[in-house]
Amino acid sequence: MTDRMDTPPIRAVGLSKTYTLGRVQVLAVRDVHLTVQRGRLVVIMGPSGSGKTTLLSMLGCILRPTAGELYIVGQRVERWDEAYLPHIRRRYIGFIFQQFNLLRALTALENVEIALHLRGIRGRAARVQAAQALAQVGLADRLHFYPKDLSGGEQQRVAIARAIAADPLILLADEPTANLDSVTGHHVVEYLRAVTYDRQMATVVVTHDHRIRALADEVYYMEDGCLRQSEKSAWSLSASSSLSS
Ligand SMILES: Nc1ncnc2c1ncn2[C@@H]1O[C@H](COP(=O)(O)OP(=O)(O)OP(=O)(O)O)[C@@H](O)[C@H]1O
Ligand SMILES: [Mg+2]
Repeated sequence: MTDRMDTPPIRAVGLSKTYTLGRVQVLAVRDVHLTVQRGRLVVIMGPSGSGKTTLLSMLGCILRPTAGELYIVGQRVERWDEAYLPHIRRRYIGFIFQQFNLLRALTALENVEIALHLRGIRGRAARVQAAQALAQVGLADRLHFYPKDLSGGEQQRVAIARAIAADPLILLADEPTANLDSVTGHHVVEYLRAVTYDRQMATVVVTHDHRIRALADEVYYMEDGCLRQSEKSAWSLSASSSLSS
């Protein structure tokens, strides 16, 4: 990849989103500033309805902000039209949806392969890369299973394999452990932590799960659309800077 290593993959400046439903306006995200560097796992917590999914969707170039600027690898996302955004999403972003969004008529392998096809990787190369991604999440012996024959945790891991198969720079996950038991959920997050570091991705995980905090580099809270850094990360940042000084 030619992108400069020191350019943050994600930089949001004053990002806001207002939904308009008839005469009702919902200010879902207010003036969010967020920078995520490579190799960092950022967690966003907060109550239901506080704007987490809205923010993540904007970072993932799925939803157009009503105000503010978004820079992906230093490039400002300016044209929020569907002719342009798929290019950014395919090139840089892997998205893990809460509901997995697996295609039920396709096997695990085919679900991952199709994501690679969308990125221009075809034929045998796609098949091999998809099988490798599934092996990395511990599903080498489930390649030809259909979603209905996989457990919730296994389906979630297929969704993760699909998101990371094409080696994205940015990984966004919306409640990746919400449907999992606590042990499986913990494994999934440990895996996200490891892959973020190994591949030097910028990862943002939205979660209600307090146990995930421990594995995060930075923790933010969202409330009424406002994002603020939590004390844990403020503490760990000052601790690491005082250790290094
Ligand atoms: N398409 C939409 N149109 C209008 N309002 C919306 C829309 N999507 C979300 N909202 C509103 O915006 C606010 C933030 O929603 P969002 O889905 O971002 O919350 P969240 O923090 O992800 O909540 P949860 O934890 O329940 O998933 C909510 O008040 C919600 O009702
Ligand atoms: Mg949500």
